[in-house]
Amino acid sequence: MVEDNNPKHIGIIMDGNRRFAKKLMMQPWKGHEWGKKKVEKLLNWCEDLDIKELSLYAFSTKNFNRPKEEFNHIMNLFRDASKDLLNDERLESKQIRIRFCGRIHMFPEDIQKSMHEIMDKTKKHNKYLINFCMAYGGREEIIDAMRAYFKDIEDGNATIKDIDESNFHKYLWVENEPELIIRTSGERRTSDFLTWQGAYSEFFFLDKHWPEFEKEDLKKCIDEYKARDRRFGK
Ligand code: FPP
Repeated sequence: MVEDNNPKHIGIIMDGNRRFAKKLMMQPWKGHEWGKKKVEKLLNWCEDLDIKELSLYAFSTKNFNRPKEEFNHIMNLFRDASKDLLNDERLESKQIRIRFCGRIHMFPEDIQKSMHEIMDKTKKHNKYLINFCMAYGGREEIIDAMRAYFKDIEDGNATIKDIDESNFHKYLWVENEPELIIRTSGERRTSDFLTWQGAYSEFFFLDKHWPEFEKEDLKKCIDEYKARDRRFGK
């Protein structure tokens, strides 16, 4: 039985892939491979725990500055992940919509093409929503939203008075606010993830690295979230 105060939307900063690989004396990209496998499992856990929306910080705009060899491995991993997603029958059977949120034009063209294909294929799915935040940065998201708004003004489709706190989200890549945000791997900062949407989110910082994250950890965060008193300044 799922209770009413179950969170609808969870954000996750999937940190610690390289540190996990290092601990096992493996190359950094091995950590990313395990990280990808963990994402695949996460999708099933969310169904079991009745989480309708997930926002996953998979690659920031700053991550484009990773060492060349690691960067190439990550891009190949994204290519594999795109193929897997295109062939994943769960997207249709469970009505999962996928969105790639960020400056996705920064990715190599073939990856961009797959991203658009996946978004197109799932755009009418209406039970679950997964936002892969890629080439993402919260400040960039706000700047791009402002640009889109100014463009609407320029085109005569909006006026300066039209925007406020309640409707700014329609210009953002990720529209909905997550009730909680989890960060793995011991760092206690937000690293520009969901900068606008996370203003009132409950944060959970776990010491485990992302590849070590288990369903029990997710369940514990959700249970603790339910026990927290959210006052929104009142
Ligand atoms: C975070 O750990 C990982 C990344 C920045 C890179 C890529 C993410 C994945 C492969 C997860 C799976 C994604 C998809 C879309 C299937 P880190 O490299 O910052 O680790 P560190 O903090 O130990 O250095």
